[in-house]
Amino acid sequence: MKIGVAGIGHGVFGKRNDATAQELAFEPFSEAMEDCGITQQDIDATIIGSSPEYHKQRSLPGVVTEYIGMNPKPAFLTEAACASGSAALLSAYGFIRAGMFDVVAVIGVQKMMELSTPEILALMGRVGDVQWESNFGTTFPGYYALYARRHMHEFGTTEEQMAQVAIKNHFYGTKNPKARFQKEVSMEKIMSSKIVASPLKMFDCCANADGAACLIIANEDKARKISDTPIWLEGVGSATAPFSVLNRASISTIPSAVEAGKQAFKMADCEPKNIHVADVHDCFTIAELMAYEDLGFCKRGEGGKFIEEKQSYIGGKIPVNVDGGLKSKGHPVGATGTSMAYEAVKQLRGEAGERQVDGAEIALTHNVGGIGQYCFVNIYKR
Ligand SMILES: CC(C)(COP(=O)(O)OP(=O)(O)OC[C@H]1O[C@@H](n2cnc3c(N)ncnc32)[C@H](O)[C@@H]1OP(=O)(O)O)[C@@H](O)C(=O)NCCC(=O)NCCS
Repeated sequence: MKIGVAGIGHGVFGKRNDATAQELAFEPFSEAMEDCGITQQDIDATIIGSSPEYHKQRSLPGVVTEYIGMNPKPAFLTEAACASGSAALLSAYGFIRAGMFDVVAVIGVQKMMELSTPEILALMGRVGDVQWESNFGTTFPGYYALYARRHMHEFGTTEEQMAQVAIKNHFYGTKNPKARFQKEVSMEKIMSSKIVASPLKMFDCCANADGAACLIIANEDKARKISDTPIWLEGVGSATAPFSVLNRASISTIPSAVEAGKQAFKMADCEPKNIHVADVHDCFTIAELMAYEDLGFCKRGEGGKFIEEKQSYIGGKIPVNVDGGLKSKGHPVGATGTSMAYEAVKQLRGEAGERQVDGAEIALTHNVGGIGQYCFVNIYKR
């Protein structure tokens, strides 16, 4: 049975003091319903992807479903740290495949900017192993700084190559009206920005944000009925890796990403070279370089060369994060996976405007949760 994305919506990411979590969720939900011309009555269930620890409101699905008019239909929450939105999407896929629901609204939503950066970093740090790591002060920038140092040591990757990722993603962010930052940055500005966790500087890091995105997922029959342009989820891959980095064989690769990628390519019956456009989890610039390698877009250790040669720009081998990526859109943790899916659908429908990859027929999304404890890779086709 084919499973398709029939409708999509995307709110503006950023500091959204104007909206509660349920209001953030309603924006893309109503846009997605309008997109495919349906109402709440046509939807069987809601799955919310979110990381609960940032919200004052507990049990978010309850308050969201009431606000968006989805009572008395069932609602669920999925949590897989920064990949919570992709976990929601995969859950919807499974429910529909099992024949339990025909049409499901998947809403990735996160409100985090009411907290200060130190509060956010401390909460995030606890997605690292609390017993052996975060109790001793590890933070996400700290973990990814370790990955970056190791990558530099093993493969000669440079800080300038990492900065090239930020230059590209901020460049494409200027073409995305939903992004938190819509301004280009120069090499000089990146290299002289404040050090967050050496070698990572501020512009190597994604920014925190509030935001939400929504997907209406349906079985083949319903997807064809409610959408003129259903986009098919042809390959889904999901995997986990040891929670503690101390238990990983290597920290210059994310094993869950390698595994999830293999599953998705096999199921979609295609290879990395067949991908026309990709959204990968660039929570830090080094993460995008590792993603190129983990997904097989280039050989292991050649991520730096790949960006230097502009192979991930439109016109290169595989355009990556042409919506600006997390770097430019901001990273409202639970919403990111659904935001990536939104971009894949936009590209495959040919609706991506100034950032459109001409003739895109196969798109990939790669959403890492935590420091690689979870990864979801999806492949979409027209
Ligand atoms: C890098 C970081 C520490 C900076 O936070 P901060 O020092 O508190 O910065 P502020 O929020 O005070 O912002 C200061 C300025 O820099 C900008 N800014 C903040 N973070 C930025 C980023 N990552 N990239 C570019 N600009 C950024 C802000 O918009 C603000 O600009 P303004 O003064 O023109 O409004 C923060 O963005 C961060 O924690 N990022 C990592 C998030 C993370 O780990 N996510 C999970 C990954 S899996």
